Amino acid sequence: MTGLAGIIAGDTAISTVGKESAGLTYRGYNITYLVDHANFESVAYLLLYNKLPAPEELNLYQKKLMSLRRLPEKLLILLKAIPQTANPMDVLRTGVSMLGILEPETPESIDKLVAILPVILLTWYQGQEVTNAQITTADYFLYGLNELRVKPSDPLFSKALDASLILYAEHEFNASTFAARITASTLSDVYSCITTAIGTLRGPLHGGANEEAMKLIQQFDEPDQVEAGIKRMLSEKKLIMGFGHRVYINGDPRSPIVKDLARQLSEKVGKQKLFAIAEIIENTMWTEKKIYPNLDFYSALVYHCIGIPTSFFTPLFVVSRITGWLAHVIEQRSNNKLIRPLANYIGPEPRQI
Ligand code: ACO
Repeated sequence: MTGLAGIIAGDTAISTVGKESAGLTYRGYNITYLVDHANFESVAYLLLYNKLPAPEELNLYQKKLMSLRRLPEKLLILLKAIPQTANPMDVLRTGVSMLGILEPETPESIDKLVAILPVILLTWYQGQEVTNAQITTADYFLYGLNELRVKPSDPLFSKALDASLILYAEHEFNASTFAARITASTLSDVYSCITTAIGTLRGPLHGGANEEAMKLIQQFDEPDQVEAGIKRMLSEKKLIMGFGHRVYINGDPRSPIVKDLARQLSEKVGKQKLFAIAEIIENTMWTEKKIYPNLDFYSALVYHCIGIPTSFFTPLFVVSRITGWLAHVIEQRSNNKLIRPLANYIGPEPRQI
């Protein structure tokens, strides 16, 4: 079976993906319920501590994450030395690796990793440590993108970014999570598990698709060019990024939620034309291939309307998915067995020189 498609590779109690009756759930809660009733930090708590926090628990957890948004001096020096031309995914991977050298794993490392990724990213971007006192990850990120911002960001921006962080947080045995579990299964340290996962997420068939989806939408100047353009790409056997999914056959349940946010944001910031272009891409993919958009497609438009640079789209996926990766590392360690499958040998018969 190529790509292990359809193979059940282990047990998990963290999420269900594509199960007919349940849809996408984190620890039994449907993602639509979580987007409506929780924020990203409470979802992180749910994934890592196996319960939705009570208000006081959430308050304490958010304060803890805020207190952990501190960079060791040598990591700050390293981030300032990384050129602005670097790929931000490489910055995150290197930042996590350096943190593992400076602060070898302790029980605190789990929360520290959740808190520190946006700090690594924004500090490199701004060339100085970003120390704003925003409570939520979404607001910390939005303020940190523009250190000189004095006004609170638009509540719709915060809501949309927070919702997208919830939706990206966890997705069972996707490639990066499975990679993290393989590393965990060798009893390696948590930083090695996370650098493995970041490297795996970077590719355009996985996390990198949201950036490619934005480039695709921006290829078109006018909505009336879109249908013919997509048909041409399909006839050239090109992949349309942000479409298709290994597990979801009847559509990605996260997509309608981000599509609605993309519609609201595009109206708010006057980018209705981009939304119209995206919808025609969606309709053409349905007519031509019967393939649905995945989470990455309309998330790209959400981030673009908020003003986030395209090269930060996949890093934002990391800022969120770190919670799922860590939950899986904890789960793997709790009942560990080395993950080491077999290969089907297709090389030459034994031979002599
Ligand atoms: N554009 C055009 N054709 C597609 C697409 C697409 N996005 N997705 C699938 N197809 C076609 C394939 O070409 C193939 O056609 P064929 O049978 O004529 O050869 C058929 O649909 C089946 O596709 P597979 O590649 O076999 O499906 P697989 O399960 O291996 O791939 C994947 C899933 C990698 C997500 C694929 O749909 C894809 O490459 N999509 C684009 C990248 C993308 O959006 N990735 C994000 C994944 S979700 C996430 O990370 C949040």
